[in-house]
Amino acid sequence: MTDQDRLLLGQTLTFSGDPFHMPIGDACDHNSQGGILIRDGVIAAVDHADTLKSAYPQAEVMDYGRNLILPGFIDTHAHYPQTAIIASWGKQLIDWLNTYTFPEEMRFVDPDYAQAMARTYLDLLLRNGTTTVVSYCTSHPVSVDAFFSAATERQMSVFAGKTCMDRNAPAPLLDTPQRAYDESKALLDQWHGRDRCKYVITPRFSPTSTPEQLEVLGQLWAEHPDCLMQTHISEQLPELDWVAKLFPKARDYLDTYEMFGLLGARGLYGHAIHLTDREKSRLRDAGGALVHCPTSNTFIGSGLFDMGARKGEGHKVGLATDTGGGSSFSMLRTIAAAYEIGQLSGTALHPAQLLWLATAGNAQTLHADDHLGHLAPGYAADITVIDLTSTAAIETRANQAETFWDMVFPTIMMGDDRAIADVWVNGGRVGQLS
Ligand code: GUN
Ligand code: ZN
Repeated sequence: MTDQDRLLLGQTLTFSGDPFHMPIGDACDHNSQGGILIRDGVIAAVDHADTLKSAYPQAEVMDYGRNLILPGFIDTHAHYPQTAIIASWGKQLIDWLNTYTFPEEMRFVDPDYAQAMARTYLDLLLRNGTTTVVSYCTSHPVSVDAFFSAATERQMSVFAGKTCMDRNAPAPLLDTPQRAYDESKALLDQWHGRDRCKYVITPRFSPTSTPEQLEVLGQLWAEHPDCLMQTHISEQLPELDWVAKLFPKARDYLDTYEMFGLLGARGLYGHAIHLTDREKSRLRDAGGALVHCPTSNTFIGSGLFDMGARKGEGHKVGLATDTGGGSSFSMLRTIAAAYEIGQLSGTALHPAQLLWLATAGNAQTLHADDHLGHLAPGYAADITVIDLTSTAAIETRANQAETFWDMVFPTIMMGDDRAIADVWVNGGRVGQLS
């Protein structure tokens, strides 16, 4: 039996191109009286509301009025095990990891704790309109099982992997090169492509992996080239000095990955702030994605990512929360922070560019833009509905708006989970959000 057809009406916005590389008007498809038809879990039609209402008279109608219907937000770099230590005070990267992060990650040896945190985290994401995430787990395989199980319960499309570390972290979090390979492979075999789960090969960053571990993970990636690989690079200056000491033969930070087969088009390189010219051109030529994490970069004090310059050079760039180094679960708060960092780096990012990054652009960095990140027939019905007047302050500002983008920008800068009017995942409506 097929599900009841559902017609979602409101303002619709989706992207047919990259607004960093073409005029905004050409890249965006905005319909102030639009709609989408959901059939059997996917988007079956996108058109004017009136056209859809006459074409599908039997469909159950959800009329969202002036609210904005968007593809669900995608977060391309997060650490679900850091949910309970978000907003921990006063440390920069290495001290922050040692003081707050590693002790918390040790708790994920307990499958019940991991399960509870995975559920809490994914519910927070949905509350914030994020329907897809790429998350690090901990080094414990049970933390990966917990995450993928909780995502499957919610029918969410997620990407995740076991965080591999065999040095410079507390002993209970360390594996070995062989264990990293074996456990990652077993998890990959178990979860990759099951339901809506995708396995991501995950060396945390080169300071916590020996060359031997990076090498076996490069080998695993070569054996599974359709998987994504995620890691961190060039986030904070003292980290760069540490990497240079640990890898005296490497030409630079990127080389610690490149020499072990960990540079590629399906690589996600978190932060990528302090890159040399060689690193930039190698990353661009290889097609790897730089993942910008603006609330994390200001919160941990890492530096300013230059979005305008990197996009201008032809880099693939993703945008992410980096929860819990980042200070929010919300992609709205994240695009606001990206705007502010853009201003400090000399580029005022357009609201269309910000929303593209959080949806279609991020889908592209995951090589998933054939089924995620767009409102178009055949795409997953993962949808976020935004109230553009969700608080008194936003409403007061939006009432002055003369254009659509002027109407949207106050929500970008001041919106949070209160702006998320509704969320659909895999064609099903997530419980009434209050
Ligand atoms: N570098 C290595 N691990 C981490 C982490 O958990 N968070 C951040 N922000 N940077 C890292
Ligand atoms: Zn991170």
